[in-house]
Amino acid sequence: MSDLYLKLVNTPVGKTAAQSLGLPSPAPLKRLKRVDQPFIEGNVLVGAGPGAKAAATVGSILGASPATLLHASGQPSLADSALTGNKAKAVDLTSEVEGKFSALIFDATGLKGPQDLRALYDFFHPTIRKLAANGRVLVIGQDPHTCRKAPQAAAQQALEGFVRSVAKEVGKKGSTANLLWMAPNADNQLDSSVRFFLSARSAYVSGQVVRIGKADVAKASNPVAPLAGKVALVTGASRGIGAAIAETLARDGATVIGLDIPAVMADLQNVTDAIKGKALACDITDEKAPKMIADFIAKETGGVDLVIHNAGITRDKTLGNMPEHFWDMTIAVNLTAEELIDEELMHRELLRNNGRIVCISSISGIAGNFGQTNYACAKSGVIGYVEAMAKQLKNGITINAIAPGFIETQMTAAMPFTIREAGRRMNSLSQGGLPVDVAEAIGWYCSPASAGVNGNVVRVCGQSLIGK
Ligand SMILES: NC(=O)c1ccc[n+]([C@@H]2O[C@H](COP(=O)([O-])OP(=O)(O)OC[C@H]3O[C@@H](n4cnc5c(N)ncnc54)[C@H](O)[C@@H]3O)[C@@H](O)[C@H]2O)c1
Repeated sequence: MSDLYLKLVNTPVGKTAAQSLGLPSPAPLKRLKRVDQPFIEGNVLVGAGPGAKAAATVGSILGASPATLLHASGQPSLADSALTGNKAKAVDLTSEVEGKFSALIFDATGLKGPQDLRALYDFFHPTIRKLAANGRVLVIGQDPHTCRKAPQAAAQQALEGFVRSVAKEVGKKGSTANLLWMAPNADNQLDSSVRFFLSARSAYVSGQVVRIGKADVAKASNPVAPLAGKVALVTGASRGIGAAIAETLARDGATVIGLDIPAVMADLQNVTDAIKGKALACDITDEKAPKMIADFIAKETGGVDLVIHNAGITRDKTLGNMPEHFWDMTIAVNLTAEELIDEELMHRELLRNNGRIVCISSISGIAGNFGQTNYACAKSGVIGYVEAMAKQLKNGITINAIAPGFIETQMTAAMPFTIREAGRRMNSLSQGGLPVDVAEAIGWYCSPASAGVNGNVVRVCGQSLIGK
């Protein structure tokens, strides 16, 4: 579904008309063009508050990119910015800052109390207006749940409000701001998340907070095809977000088993043929489905590494008008089936060590939505399932969820015009996302280097105003 307004408003006449009428002026988002594209280019400025623990790691991650590395200087509160490494050139923030930055990164891991928050102001106040269009703001803090003292937890929690507000301020230029909360000594797990959030892959992800825990260090052996040798199961793969997930995981090297209902087999076959994958016709609500899927995997690939529960349906009606089968079907497809499939795959030891399970929730599951008691109930249940399973899974297996906002698919094309337009514009980037935006986020979860990313619910919603 194309967004005509986005195209019009980016013509010279459209831009002037939108400005004079006070209409939103969404900036075109730069998405990944080539798989071997550097994750960041241009000038990247790193700042660090007192006691910074991640700056050296960030410096070495950026050292693998062609970006020009710079570090903040001049303010006593930013003295630790020099930990970024001796390859970084100092930029004095007490005098006029020249040029534009493609990214501003701030290491807040050492902030011990509210008095230390001044370092955020000292770093961002002179630089935020120098952030280029489609720029990236990334703040790294310590997970408040791991802070022993209340002032430290307060300072670390404060980062969430700060980053979410920055995201709202920079969104009109197509820029994003996100926060990584790491566990103590988990800086060796930052690599895949720093790369993702600085890159064009996260174009539609903004205002998000990701928890990064301790895990064994794992790196993708092939940076262009990080999923080489992995087998992925993608449900609902014949169209929309599912087709984009299948294509993206295949692009990253995985062998994909695409699954969908028998009625859409021809479409599914088109998707899987194009990526040299395998097609499985199956209704996931069929009571024989978990066994059928497990048998197929056992026979065709001998196991699976990545399980992506994408299939979903909406059956909207206000609760008093909702027929029984709307309720039952929506819960069965969006929630129950995922749990039963995982149970069978694990019971038969088909989910391999260091596997990844990714579930699709929705912002409706976070905020609720009129006429969607059934859907929001199921998508909220997905979050509960992910959070509980993340604590139980062993052998390096992780589970995370994506909660998409308004994504341009057949599901959203079927919405009434006014609701569709509102969904598109009511976010910090003033536009809908594309299926590939969800798929890229799933690629990041699935990376072998994302072992420390577990139990998260990341919204791919352009920081939708709906929900928190
Ligand atoms: N499009 C959005 O804006 C949006 C927003 C939030 C969440 N989501 C979620 O993202 C996922 C994909 O959404 P989409 O927009 O691509 O939807 P879509 O309707 O275009 O595709 C869903 C796919 O799931 C398949 N499916 C449905 N029931 C199935 C069953 N019983 N067994 C097997 N396959 C089944 C369908 O045939 C279809 O191919 C869904 O879980 C949806 O709830 C989408």
